[in-house]
Amino acid sequence: MNQLAFALPKAELHLHIEGTFEPGLIFTLAERNGVQLPYPNVDALRRAYAFTDLRSFLDVYYAAMAVLRTERDFTELADAYLSRAREQGVVHVEMFFDPQAHTARGIPFATVIDGLWEAVRTSEARFGISASLIMCFLRDQSEESAFATLDEALPYGDRIVAVGLDSAEVGHPPSKFRRVFERALAEGWKTVAHAGEEGPPAYVWEALDLLRVSRVDHGVRSLEDPRLVARLRDERIPLTVCPLSNVKLRVVDTLADHPLRRMLDEDLVVTVNSDDPAYFGGYIGTNYAQVAQALHLDDAALLTLARNSFEASFIDVRTRDAYL
Ligand code: ADE
Ligand code: ZN
Repeated sequence: MNQLAFALPKAELHLHIEGTFEPGLIFTLAERNGVQLPYPNVDALRRAYAFTDLRSFLDVYYAAMAVLRTERDFTELADAYLSRAREQGVVHVEMFFDPQAHTARGIPFATVIDGLWEAVRTSEARFGISASLIMCFLRDQSEESAFATLDEALPYGDRIVAVGLDSAEVGHPPSKFRRVFERALAEGWKTVAHAGEEGPPAYVWEALDLLRVSRVDHGVRSLEDPRLVARLRDERIPLTVCPLSNVKLRVVDTLADHPLRRMLDEDLVVTVNSDDPAYFGGYIGTNYAQVAQALHLDDAALLTLARNSFEASFIDVRTRDAYL
């Protein structure tokens, strides 16, 4: 086992809290809330984890969320992650959440954010992990729905560090949300966006130029465009790469084919993250360990990845400098 991969203090910057929902907890909450899942038991659910692309994953991911109903459910979901993240070396996490996936089912926005916030605000004291929230808009929903979500979030502005963009990428370019992100920036939120996971490099350009993102989530397809690579390097725009996710969702065939090493060689500010670890076969330490093995990354490369994670984070500058 690569002990350094787990022991290195690191920031997790690309983690969907709903993607940490382990089958055991899914069925516990299903029973507690009297919700019938389309899978009879844990084994049947796990058999559905044979994904062929992003869409095939999202179908299962959204189906499992149906059991999240109360504030306590959301607190328990985040607590389950936070209580185990330290053993992966996580000392800071900026977690995504998908409010529209819950409000569309009739769960009030307040239930979602109050539940998550209870876990997040007490995380440092209980687990030694500073935590913050990034609210994502679902890009396969309308601009109008994103604006309505932004309005609902305004009273909770100080609990949210940034807004992001996720869900089915192809056919839903960042430009669709230019006006929403302009408003979010005007409200003082930072911005990030999934781009270049399945979508083309043009989506990464749009995320930079139209959504003014501080970092790009995934961004692996940026390598297809040398001008884009030069821009990312020159402006030190971080990329939150998720290797095990990319294999599970067939963005790459195997970890040995993953472009992470090329990205490091191009001097990009690349970070390694876990995306939806309950579904993709491992948390962040496992991602570090498995890419180290598959791509023959030495300890110095792992250290660079961990340092990049703090540089790329939204931690306040003085705390951040202590990690660098
Ligand atoms: N939502 C959860 N995981 C995602 C991913 N990898 N890409 C886009 N949207 C997501
Ligand atoms: Zn993601």
